[in-house]
Amino acid sequence: MTDRLQQALLRIRPDVRAAHAYAVQPSAGVVKLDIMENPFRLPPELQRELGERLGAVAINRYPAERTAELAAALRMHAGVPSDVGVTLGNGSDELIGLLTLAVAQPGAVIVSPTPSFVIYQMCAEHQRLNFVGVPLRSDDFELDEAAMLAAVERHQPALVYLSYPNNPTGNLWDAASIERIVAAAPGLVVMDEAYQPFASSDSLALMARHPHVLVMRTMSKFGLAGVRIGYLLGAQQLVEQIEKLRPPFNISVLNAEAALFALEHAEVYAAQAATLRAERERVFEALKTLPGITPWPSQGNMILARVGDAAATFAALRARGVLIKNVSAAHPLLANCLRITIGTPDENTRLLAELPECL
Ligand SMILES: Cc1ncc(COP(=O)(O)O)c(C=O)c1O
Repeated sequence: MTDRLQQALLRIRPDVRAAHAYAVQPSAGVVKLDIMENPFRLPPELQRELGERLGAVAINRYPAERTAELAAALRMHAGVPSDVGVTLGNGSDELIGLLTLAVAQPGAVIVSPTPSFVIYQMCAEHQRLNFVGVPLRSDDFELDEAAMLAAVERHQPALVYLSYPNNPTGNLWDAASIERIVAAAPGLVVMDEAYQPFASSDSLALMARHPHVLVMRTMSKFGLAGVRIGYLLGAQQLVEQIEKLRPPFNISVLNAEAALFALEHAEVYAAQAATLRAERERVFEALKTLPGITPWPSQGNMILARVGDAAATFAALRARGVLIKNVSAAHPLLANCLRITIGTPDENTRLLAELPECL
């Protein structure tokens, strides 16, 4: 390395130099059940129609009104009143970054139950904020309400994240506990509803009762993970502040058009989600009967399960062409846990056929 390059590198924050980039597992040619994607593509005639729509988009222009039209269409899709604020992110990941930036004052604390979505902590660390993770109950991954209330009381967090359902545990936490935590929280509370298409309840009524609650959703699990559209709903006065931090053209014209097209065909995606919910129950019931694996019930499009040796089971399945996620190292409560994304019926059948030999 040249001296100039060395000098330049030393100007990068030491914690950034010491960090690792988010790793995406290689997945060419395998049954991909690792990161909660919707396994279904659009039917061929809709693919053609979408191609024509995208071909006609003015990609020579910066994004303009179409972004606002998408925001309005998403508000309609969620069924919230028109006075609810909405802003868009290049995936919820970007919104989490913007929310973190918005509260990044000296001494600010972010609280979330753990294990949960890793990006909450990652973004807090990027802004040098204190992240306080409150362990879930070890047997059922339910909120430890007393510990959450104590953390809120002690740290007065600027921001609380509740992933509802939670990733990677898949469960919906107790609504009464959430209500009490929300009532105690002095700052923003973000209900992260990435898995809402697969869940039996949502937080829109909670948001209507508490003006400091924001609901964050994404089109990723709906079926557009590659398109990168996340959205944040809530009180105009709060959402406006996030909007100020949003890079002006963060939503590409192609992404906006593809998302609008998908919303025009929401019934296709609703049918896919229904299939995935039914498949989730089929896979869960099948896993329950297998010796050597303990699955937890899920309201997402994934199932968390504990095995005897997660690394060995993961590797054996991988060798048989099925890619899942070994989440064991993410948190002590996840020791020997695997997270299995629900795929197409054929993919799930393949998983269930290969798995017994890998346990
Ligand atoms: C709880 C949760 N929130 C947000 C996201 C990020 O979604 P997006 O693809 O919109 O960035 C994920 C992705 O897995 C997630 O699990």
